Amino acid sequence: MANSYKIGVIRGDGIGPEIIDEAIKVLDAVSVKEGFTLKYEEMLLGGVAIDETGVPLPDETINGVKKCDAVLFGAIGGPKWDTLPRELRPETGLLGLRKEMGTFANLRPAMVYDELINASTLKSEVVKGVDIMVVRELTGGIYFGQPRELLEDCAYNTMIYTRQEVERIAKVAFEIAMKRNKRVCSVDKANVLEVSQFWRDIVIEVAKAYPEVELSHMYVDNTAMQLIREPKQFDVILTGNIFGDILSDAASMLSGSIGLLPSASIGEGVGLYEPIHGSAPDIAGQGIANPLATISSASMMLRYALKEESAADKIDKAIKQILAEGYRTGDIGNYDAKEICTCSKMGNLIADYVSK
Ligand code: IPM
Ligand code: MG
Repeated sequence: MANSYKIGVIRGDGIGPEIIDEAIKVLDAVSVKEGFTLKYEEMLLGGVAIDETGVPLPDETINGVKKCDAVLFGAIGGPKWDTLPRELRPETGLLGLRKEMGTFANLRPAMVYDELINASTLKSEVVKGVDIMVVRELTGGIYFGQPRELLEDCAYNTMIYTRQEVERIAKVAFEIAMKRNKRVCSVDKANVLEVSQFWRDIVIEVAKAYPEVELSHMYVDNTAMQLIREPKQFDVILTGNIFGDILSDAASMLSGSIGLLPSASIGEGVGLYEPIHGSAPDIAGQGIANPLATISSASMMLRYALKEESAADKIDKAIKQILAEGYRTGDIGNYDAKEICTCSKMGNLIADYVSK
């Protein structure tokens, strides 16, 4: 009998619904072709959840995701909800969901499509062949550390990592490196922060079990510079929550647009698959968003969560082919474009290609 999977779908806010529509179009097409079935269950998160239920992360969503094989997520947030108290903000909903799902490892590949080599703001010889995997710790660090408080004359957050948190994320990075070019660069700020010294010491311990992997350490400020100076020096970048947030945005521009890059958040159970970009409220509803990051996240979902590798390969190939044919969305539209497409046209092109 054909495999059947249950996929949680969280559209969210801004361009979230548009880009998810296109990813589902592609998933439907590839599943027909490959002979498995996907059942979708829609769930609320973020601003839309606040509007409908009063909270950014409703209990139905927390319970719902746990019953799925994987969750595909668009984006959350927007000016409408920016002035709410922190516990009611859309972002708090997303952080809560990551924590609830135990998705402690956020994998953010930054690769450059040869077809878009001129789309980067950096010189083509600097970015050609870049293939980096940022492994970002996602459920700890300063994002979650207690105590935290906003007072009248001061405010504070706490950057905290436990041994267990560092060990498990380091293992993920080394395992991934074993399947790639066997190099891990652990990024910290050990020259200033105790928590970073601790991080570094534990990464060195974990590395002993992976003698084939070459481990290096880099301070986060230097890493930001090196990513732009000579990005090809990196294979796997292992880092904590906030450094990974910042560095993965920087790394995304190597590819030409943050609208291209997917991510997989994995860990204890069900995984969450989402583009690395935000909800882009400024272009929401205009049909001009780039759906490729979400389509690519759907491919990661097929590969990592459902083990439907052949379907994932088909999507990845389709993206390359459609770009090679000169189809572009506006964000990458200045470069070797044959046609500037709408979000939905781009989804149709990929869906048609995987159906061939
Ligand atoms: C990301 C985003 C989130 C984060 C926000 C929306 C909470 O920037 O996924 O990178 O900081 O983790
Ligand atoms: Mg971010």
